[in-house]
Amino acid sequence: ETIEWDPEQAGKGEYDHFMLKEIHEQPTSLTQALEGRIDPENGRIALSDFEPGTFADVESVQLLACGTSYHAALYGSLALNQAGIQSTALLANEYSVSAPPIDDETLVIAVTQSGETADTLSALRQANAAGATTVTVTNVVGSTAAREADETLFIRAGPEIGVAATKTFSSQAVMLLLLGQCIAADHHGEPPADLETLLPALATMPDAIDGLLETSEADAIAEQYAHSQSYFFIGRGLGFSVALEGALKFKEITYEHAEGFASGELKHGPLALVTPDTPVFAVFTGEEDEKTLKNAEEAQTRGAPVVAVCPDDHRAVDVADEHLSIPETAPDLAGLLANVQLQLVSYHAADLLDRPIDKPRNLAKSVTVE
Ligand code: AGP
Repeated sequence: ETIEWDPEQAGKGEYDHFMLKEIHEQPTSLTQALEGRIDPENGRIALSDFEPGTFADVESVQLLACGTSYHAALYGSLALNQAGIQSTALLANEYSVSAPPIDDETLVIAVTQSGETADTLSALRQANAAGATTVTVTNVVGSTAAREADETLFIRAGPEIGVAATKTFSSQAVMLLLLGQCIAADHHGEPPADLETLLPALATMPDAIDGLLETSEADAIAEQYAHSQSYFFIGRGLGFSVALEGALKFKEITYEHAEGFASGELKHGPLALVTPDTPVFAVFTGEEDEKTLKNAEEAQTRGAPVVAVCPDDHRAVDVADEHLSIPETAPDLAGLLANVQLQLVSYHAADLLDRPIDKPRNLAKSVTVE
């Protein structure tokens, strides 16, 4: 007698899909990412290859990436700007036609899970040729992007099989936050003021995500709004990059129309699309939340159901039609917790629609053509 052995099914363990498994791996992947790199008690970050002073001459930062990695790059870029470093996240596939000037005080960071994305490699080569100092933030040791940059920072997320990037997004964002803190410390000659709150919050983030995963009601929300016409995601600041990522994940695996907007942009056009058939997921990250709430209410007035992604005691809970809860955390990390809820919403919506979640049509895990 032979036993049927399907290596793919075995790899998924107790989960129906790699995507769900990888969403649930985030407490572990983040623990691995942070291992030996943060010392909350002494308020220190230690990234090997990046000794204090490495970035003393950096005046500006360009982050290059595509897709989900671009959203992590946006997250990192905004955190850098908030720390007083001039920084821009750029789509790698636009870089050949729109690269801002580079000089020897420009640091260019390529963000790529696979390290093999052709668009990102091409942009990295262009930055190298222009004389920038380059760093690759990647998951894959020995990848082309890791080899071609001056330095590499590994996110240590472990293999990601699902085409939809999940655990690698959170690890990329966290590593960019840490790198950003090092750049800001070197630039200003002293550690950024919010390091004291960031490091302890980072240390407890794996537990926070564990709790969120255990209690999430994303499956019920996905069911409630299944078969809507369109799905909108809004946020401000770091929450804007999460809104973009929430929408990308949703369209990628459900095949339904989804868009992410800066909250304040709704009234400049997209509001015309809003109906009772277009749920709006509003991400609250503590960055001018009152304004985002007002923007969400404007959609609600047009009949759209609003799902607030925020802590339990947030004012938005009373206003919104539904609520997806995130634990209290440091301001820089709230968006990453909100993103886990949105990953689950996309997953459950795609599951209800019976989509091939791990291998969406027309997409490849690593896009090796320009
Ligand atoms: C994410 O869910 C996508 N599959 C895709 O956008 C991906 O992030 C993009 O192709 C970039 O890949 P990389 O991180 O390997 O460079």
